[in-house]
Amino acid sequence: MTEKKQIQEELISELADMRLLIEKAEARQRHDEKALREIQPQLQQAQKMETLGTLVAGVAHEINNPINLIMYNIPLLKKIWLDFLPILMERKQTEPDRKFGGFAYDFLEDNLDQLVADMEMAAHRIAKTVSDLKNYSRQSNVVEKVPLQVNSAVKNALRLAQSTLRKSDVNIKLSLADDLPDIEGNLQSIEQIILNITINAIHAVHRKQGEIEIATGLRIKDGMVYIRISDNGRGISPAIADKIFLPFVTDKQSEGGTGLGLSVTYSLVKAHDGEIEFETGRDRGTSFNVYLPTLLKYQAAKILVVDDDDAIRQILIEALTMDRRYLVEEASNGIEASIKLGTYRPDLLILDIFMPEMDGLEVCRNIRSEPELSELKVIITTGHPDHPKLDEVVKLGFTNILSKPFDLLHFVKDIEMILGQ
Ligand SMILES: Nc1ncnc2c1ncn2[C@@H]1O[C@H](COP(=O)(O)OP(=O)(O)O)[C@@H](O)[C@H]1O
Ligand SMILES: [Mg+2]
Repeated sequence: MTEKKQIQEELISELADMRLLIEKAEARQRHDEKALREIQPQLQQAQKMETLGTLVAGVAHEINNPINLIMYNIPLLKKIWLDFLPILMERKQTEPDRKFGGFAYDFLEDNLDQLVADMEMAAHRIAKTVSDLKNYSRQSNVVEKVPLQVNSAVKNALRLAQSTLRKSDVNIKLSLADDLPDIEGNLQSIEQIILNITINAIHAVHRKQGEIEIATGLRIKDGMVYIRISDNGRGISPAIADKIFLPFVTDKQSEGGTGLGLSVTYSLVKAHDGEIEFETGRDRGTSFNVYLPTLLKYQAAKILVVDDDDAIRQILIEALTMDRRYLVEEASNGIEASIKLGTYRPDLLILDIFMPEMDGLEVCRNIRSEPELSELKVIITTGHPDHPKLDEVVKLGFTNILSKPFDLLHFVKDIEMILGQ
């Protein structure tokens, strides 16, 4: 058997091992997931929340129509009362002892306005609760996701916050990053996330020196986009800080808080596979960070595999693409490789040294003379690690050298590490 054949066969058997390992890992994962489903109380909690969501939606729906009716009618009643009051007061001259529902003229004149105004306020409070409850039950319905820019969501949310903003004296500063990658999201939901956090911030700041900053940017390590909303307000009170994402947790009952805003926000962020965290300190203000995955994250690293041996090339490619982690291109000699380095722009080059036409050493020299390729990561593979050509390669600074045949599993792990750097 030739040396080449031997290398090929060893690699083929390793590939089979690797396939088995991956299958085992997947089976284990399925098993773990099943166990998780069975034991995790959090999931039961989630189910409870879902039931609660359905119940809440039903109740909200039932209250919605009657409360709308009340809200329409109260202003009418107010106007009627204003027109009626002079007539009533005329009547006082002729029938001074007359009572209305047990109340005298003067009491009505002094208090009826206020009675109606209180009713109006109460009705508004109910309507607000119903609308929060409706949002709450709608939270998991993030059906349609499209590529979108978080910056547009920020601008829309601010428009929606205008009425609250006008009532306050808060200064809002925007620092939105240019050229952010799209996220896959539901525009209305992202607006809702930003709006809920911003409204809380407006409530938290002192009327006069209230400052809120909304910033967007990219977290380099994982390609997630962030939206940071910071305020210089009172800070989240320690008594509730560890449960603000739970429904009905509020310390603003007297101002109409329902405690549903952040709970909705949390679910919406999760429905986008995002993360939310906050930092807060008494009178130091509060900062909420929302991270949302972008399409960038799914852009797999690009690898160019160069080897004149078709079989070995195919094995390496299969090992690298097995779990769809990398985008892989191939070349069978130095010339092809040099062309693809320019056009395909890989993140990593896997390079054989002994090849016809142009060998790997020549490719290494080309890479060193091309400043644009200075970031390129390179792994050298060779069946003759002791050949003097390899010394040349090392002298050029290429020190990741694997002698064939090698352990494919380690190979894939090494690549993961090299690309993660
Ligand atoms: N930026 C903030 N500064 C201080 N406290 C906050 C802030 N954001 C949220 N909170 C606290 O978290 C609680 C829950 O918020 P939320 O779920 O939106 O309900 P609500 O606004 O109806 O009270 C608020 O009552 C408030 O005490
Ligand atoms: Mg709120």
